[in-house]
Amino acid sequence: MKDYKELSRIEFNKQAEKFDTAENCYKLCQDSYDPANEEIKSKTFNDLLDIGCGTGNTIAMLLKDLPNVKYTGIDLAEKMIEVAKKKVVNENVTFVVGDAENLPFEDNSFDVILCKESIHHYPNPEKFFQESYRVLRPNGRLVIVDMRINAPIRALWNHVLFPYVIKMGDCHVFNETEIRDLYTNNGFEVTKYDALPKLRFLSSGFKKPSKVDDNITQEKEQ
Ligand SMILES: C[S@@+](CC[C@H](N)C(=O)[O-])C[C@H]1O[C@@H](n2cnc3c(N)ncnc32)[C@H](O)[C@@H]1O
Repeated sequence: MKDYKELSRIEFNKQAEKFDTAENCYKLCQDSYDPANEEIKSKTFNDLLDIGCGTGNTIAMLLKDLPNVKYTGIDLAEKMIEVAKKKVVNENVTFVVGDAENLPFEDNSFDVILCKESIHHYPNPEKFFQESYRVLRPNGRLVIVDMRINAPIRALWNHVLFPYVIKMGDCHVFNETEIRDLYTNNGFEVTKYDALPKLRFLSSGFKKPSKVDDNITQEKEQ
């Protein structure tokens, strides 16, 4: 099997310096900042993890409106993180290099996770959901924005172009059922799946507290 992660790392290290101005597919990322940020700001929260944060644009935008929130951005490509670190210098913001499928954070660390335009690069999406569940607090939200493509084209991308032609680390475009199943099979309740313009979707779900979390909450209350 192709090493999708290494291909993603190489591709985005190449793109890092021009990511914010490129006239190619990266420009598409710009159309989903506003809907993602509106969804995130629809409820109060204290800390946010942006997985596949790229050059830190989402965090830069949220920071303007919510300066007291603690923000962490993680990305596989170290050069994307270098650009993010130069762009957003603030005591409430941390950027780290790391993998969405193996998050270097303690259990129950964040109120919100955003994953925007990145999940189609993950060869083991189940692991990403399991890791997101682990590091979110009970009732914490997982917001995902990614590509939405009709079935025949999706089949062409997933079964022909991604495995055999494109070498940029893209590996799977999900349909609505796949996304909903990934949430529900990994302990989340889905609250939203909306079609966005320009072939994107926005989904949101919250971490259903486990029995262990319930016991901890009860112990604290006693
Ligand atoms: C299209 S960019 C989107 C960046 C940002 N979320 C935005 O919307 O501007 C996808 C990002 O996902 C990152 N990425 C890909 N695979 C990853 C993984 N396994 N773990 C963390 N980041 C990953 C890439 O390095 C890249 O920066």
